[in-house]
Amino acid sequence: MKLVETARRKNPNPGVGVFRTADDRCISLILLQSDRYWDDFAARLERPIPAAPSCEPPGSQRGRRGGGRGHGDRDAASQAMRDYLEPLVEARRTEPAGDLLSELVHAEIDGARLADEKIYGFLRLLLPAGAETTYRAFGSCLLALLERPEAMARVLADRSLVPAAVEETLRWETSVTMVARVAATDTEIGGCPVPAGSSVSVINGSASRDEARWADPGEWDLDREPQQHMAFGTGPHQCLGMHLARMELEVGINAVLDRLPNLRLDPDAETPVISGYAFRGPATLPVRFDPF
Ligand code: HEM
Repeated sequence: MKLVETARRKNPNPGVGVFRTADDRCISLILLQSDRYWDDFAARLERPIPAAPSCEPPGSQRGRRGGGRGHGDRDAASQAMRDYLEPLVEARRTEPAGDLLSELVHAEIDGARLADEKIYGFLRLLLPAGAETTYRAFGSCLLALLERPEAMARVLADRSLVPAAVEETLRWETSVTMVARVAATDTEIGGCPVPAGSSVSVINGSASRDEARWADPGEWDLDREPQQHMAFGTGPHQCLGMHLARMELEVGINAVLDRLPNLRLDPDAETPVISGYAFRGPATLPVRFDPF
């Protein structure tokens, strides 16, 4: 308990609304796993952190966490999410609480409320959209730092550099590399004709490495001049959770650096590799750290 309190005091972002959940979870996981060696950082810590706030939409009751990984059966998982969400949605119908659920339940398009399936469909998208994406970016950011001891030392000494580390990671190795579109009209991209109605896979991960925009785009550079990248897409469907994702990543990186002294890659394990197409990140992240 003492350790928890000390760790909270050291947290540069104490009590940032919903993030306290991730923070608490991070601390309790570390307390549970307080050996010096983690064979897989990704499995033990990265995944649960973003899942915690995403599975607790504003206004939900803490502790009723639903969804998350581990549902083998798709239909059962979908039903489990509906069971979790239904009482929350129903409560907002009669008592709006100024949160996202209330907005959805009472929203009107051309004078008509959203059908239930639209509401649940959106909420089913919203919960996982924030988990798979953020934990993978978290792993890539940690890996970038762990592979660059000089940058790691600078970030440890000056936490105001954490947002730059997060932003450069999102540009360098975003966790969502591709978005799908259908061409609304006949057009042309880079000399290639695209007829109306064609399916287009927009590789936003590649756009964030455009050599016409960034020097040495394949390099992770803590001092890179910030410029808009494509990690969160663009236009009307730009990622709804991009600010939440940035905050989660910053809080998560700070929490890990605060609480795992001398965090380093496990020299006896295979070097982690960032991989994946639709979702990208290091599949495993074996690390060591010193005892508390
Ligand atoms: C590092 C973390 C994340 C990355 C890299 C990411 C990336 C993306 C990308 C590329 C899109 C598609 C944009 C487009 O079609 O133009 C998207 C859409 C979306 N994201 Fe994220 N995302 C992240 C975190 C989150 C979080 C934390 C949430 C919410 C809790 C979220 C919710 C959504 C939703 C609801 C959409 C659909 C928006 C729409 O179609 O209008 N995302 N995201």
